[in-house]
Amino acid sequence: MALQTRMLGEGFAVEILDVDLAGIDDATLAEVRDQWMAHKVAILRDQTLSDDALVDFTERMGPLFVHVRDQFRSLERPEIMYISNVEEDGRPLGALGNGELHWHSDQTYTRRPVFGTMMYAIKVPEAGGDTWFGDLAAAYDAMPTAMRATVDGRKACYSIEKKSLKRRYETPQHQKDQAPDQWHPLVRTHPYLDRKALYLSPGHMTGIDALSFEDSEAEIARLQDWAAQDRFVYKPRWRKNDVVIWDNSSVMHRRDSFPPEQRRFMKRTGFHLPEERGVPF
Ligand SMILES: [Fe+2]
Repeated sequence: MALQTRMLGEGFAVEILDVDLAGIDDATLAEVRDQWMAHKVAILRDQTLSDDALVDFTERMGPLFVHVRDQFRSLERPEIMYISNVEEDGRPLGALGNGELHWHSDQTYTRRPVFGTMMYAIKVPEAGGDTWFGDLAAAYDAMPTAMRATVDGRKACYSIEKKSLKRRYETPQHQKDQAPDQWHPLVRTHPYLDRKALYLSPGHMTGIDALSFEDSEAEIARLQDWAAQDRFVYKPRWRKNDVVIWDNSSVMHRRDSFPPEQRRFMKRTGFHLPEERGVPF
């Protein structure tokens, strides 16, 4: 049975209607996966998922990802990372606070970056905290030939801690050791679809080919300006109990800040590609 869906953005981002992810059968899951890959971002509303059900669904989408930032992982289910500004006894329960997050694609600084990221919204602030998505396949497709020639065949360096960005917290040395800088193609091919996308993660990228630091930064800024044009961007408004899944091979994302007195609490999981397709090409 075909899923009921509704397009949300201009050419990407789909809402999948009337699917309960807890206990989803294999055939429906395959359809959700196809819709998600075709449209790069999928939103499913009104989900009720225990931690086990959330991890179970994630694992059926692909090999489970476990975040290197171990201080914000669930003790019971380390595959779940908390993204939150909520504090208990003066300690943050989750990562990333309430500030703005720069455009990036998730874990580009690893050899085998996470393919899909899922966020399950438990508490949503009344204002702000929106996640914006930029369609990097559409941005690549729309490039004039001369611009495309400046990205095809190039490689970029991706780092867990981009020195030129203001840090929210220092990355502990053992986490840096687990995630040495990686070089990936600046244009990557989708692992399953005949689709290329700019592999742009300005929040992680520290260099392009042998360009100087200044020239790389200028190039990254130029590409970000191109890819973040309104025509490539969609910004959903979070609702409590949303599950949003995005394809890190095809979109970048950023987050608006939100008032510190408001509470935002998300459970985040992710899944890899199988090893043979896992390294960007
Ligand atoms: Fe992210």
